[in-house]
Amino acid sequence: GRPPQLREVAGVPLQAATVDNWSQIQNFEANSDDLLISTYPKSGTTWIQEIVDMIEQNGDVEKCRRAIIQHRHPFIEWARPPQPSARNAKDCMVSYYHFQRMNQMLPDPGTWEEYYETFISGKVGWGSWFDHVKGWWERKDRYQLLFLFYEDIKRDPKHEIQKVMKFMGKNLDEKVLDTIVQETSFEKMKENPMTNRSTVPRSVLDQSISPFMRKGTVGDWKNHFTVAQNERFDEIYKKKMEGNPNFPNFCMEL
Ligand code: A3P
Repeated sequence: GRPPQLREVAGVPLQAATVDNWSQIQNFEANSDDLLISTYPKSGTTWIQEIVDMIEQNGDVEKCRRAIIQHRHPFIEWARPPQPSARNAKDCMVSYYHFQRMNQMLPDPGTWEEYYETFISGKVGWGSWFDHVKGWWERKDRYQLLFLFYEDIKRDPKHEIQKVMKFMGKNLDEKVLDTIVQETSFEKMKENPMTNRSTVPRSVLDQSISPFMRKGTVGDWKNHFTVAQNERFDEIYKKKMEGNPNFPNFCMEL
């Protein structure tokens, strides 16, 4: 059955498997050529993983289908210059809510109203959206890192994929880039058993409750937030994001 609650490490609620492997995370030492993808949950982790692998494999579709995505990009907590990627907090909350409904390793999210409070308080797996995004944003000029936004990749995938390519020190031609754009589209990745998590047993991810590749759109929060929830969220957002100049206010602009 589902765990009744998450366990905490240094005040951050985590899934049991992550807590069990905590020493591996703490003792992780990067090699100078390692590429670390650091996403808040439900911000397009799988998407950027597939993009990075497609670039690494020079657009070779067959090579990218050699294994499921979780094996091609092991999670640091389960195995071993960061690339943070962010998605607007409201869509992220919606995506996380549906994910938590179907993910049997996480506590039941309760009603949408209940989950709204949980998400704002940061008592969700891997902690607060605000802490994650602010933490990376404040350090963005100090390290060699590429900050990506889900909304940007959605709007102009080729442009963003090119940015990742340059960051990785690669130079692929137009035709290869077009293949990568096509192969990493939501529609393709939803059909692809190597990316859609269909190989994960139903006792872990129950896709009959909500598919892992759920909608893949920008602005689905409008179908979930009430007017009052939205107004309150905007206020909290403004307060929490104070002191982070130039952080895109993409929540409000959508
Ligand atoms: P939705 O639940 O809004 O559909 P993560 O991989 O970090 O768990 O993020 C999952 C979210 O990214 C889901 O959002 C999923 O549909 C979306 N996603 C995955 N692949 C995508 C793609 N190729 N294009 C757009 N969205 C994608």
